[in-house]
Amino acid sequence: TLRESCVPKAQKQSHGSEYRLQPPESYKVAILGASGGIGQPLSLLVKMSPLVSALHLYDIANVKGVAADLSHCNTPSQVLDFTGASELADCLVGVDVVVIPAGVPRKPGMSRDDLFNINAGIVKNLVEAVADKCPDAFIHIISNPVNSTVPIAAEVLKQKGVYDPKKLFGVTTLDVVRANTFVAEKKNLRLIDVDVPVVGGHAGITILPILSKTKPSVCLTDEEAHELTVRIQNAGTEVVEAKAGAGSATLSMAYAAARFVESSLRALDGDSDVYECAFIQSELTELPFFASRIKLGKRGVEAVISSDLHGLTEYEQKALEALKPELQASIEKGIAFAQKPT
Ligand code: NAD
Ligand code: LMR
Repeated sequence: TLRESCVPKAQKQSHGSEYRLQPPESYKVAILGASGGIGQPLSLLVKMSPLVSALHLYDIANVKGVAADLSHCNTPSQVLDFTGASELADCLVGVDVVVIPAGVPRKPGMSRDDLFNINAGIVKNLVEAVADKCPDAFIHIISNPVNSTVPIAAEVLKQKGVYDPKKLFGVTTLDVVRANTFVAEKKNLRLIDVDVPVVGGHAGITILPILSKTKPSVCLTDEEAHELTVRIQNAGTEVVEAKAGAGSATLSMAYAAARFVESSLRALDGDSDVYECAFIQSELTELPFFASRIKLGKRGVEAVISSDLHGLTEYEQKALEALKPELQASIEKGIAFAQKPT
């Protein structure tokens, strides 16, 4: 509990017999892009975690104020701020989980791929520093286009000789959060009970909710399944249009990213029952990267859940085949960018 983790370690040890449960370990989390639309609420949510002992906030501007503000919350983690490239290395020392929401968001009329020219370089530079300073960390990539930025990160880590495919994740939790919400609304279910696996990638038709594997199982007409699939695929655009030029999803994204951080920390802490969807290097299909449900453990991806792709409906099977060329092209674009001589 929060209260227990506020007790200093030494005190816990000297009164060890009073505690029947092993106190949780505590971890260092770095957020790169911490003063942005996602970065700020994400930092707040991570500051609330009892599993975090240090929260390192990095951005190219405005991070001092965010850190000063957050540091007044009476939760266990110490908040440190790092501004600009010269402080990036210090931000990453000893970090267990690095979250990267740095980069520009969409405006109406843009695709996620339209962000490639700016965000590809940002992710490449940040992951180079991660490779140098905390190569063992779990790396969570939020910056779009995720279908390309994750392959970029993988190449950078390979070039540095520190790539561990089990620890590199494209964050697709928001797709699951949305799918759960929309299915629960449509079928009048208790939100907390609903879990929809979402596979593929994180852009348009590459986002594929496997509605036939929803838990608890739901009965959908073909029309309902189609409507829900399209809504989930376009949910990012729904927010971009509603914000009308002021950016894309930030609050729901921060919520989703915080859930993925907490799941990662629980896995690092030894919880053996942690499952999430994420975009990872994968052998589930012929594509080199693919989002699916995974089991998280201390060393990252412990298992890939293949059963979500078994016994698909005809609609899902067609959608799966249809997404492959676009996802493959986005992956190749990322790899080519990272391999280009500078
Ligand atoms: P934002 O513009 O509000 O914030 C981005 C932050 O990144 C800014 O504070 C900026 O200063 C910082 N930044 C820019 N260059 C940097 C660098 N080199 N190093 C460190 N920080 C840098 O944007 P946002 O709304 O927070 O969105 C961020 C990214 O997340 C976008 O690419 C967006 O498309 C993506 N996104 C992904 C998902 C997902 O599901 N994976 C969901 C929503 C948004
Ligand atoms: C989302 O799904 O909300 C994000 O990828 C942001 C966007 O551009 O839609």
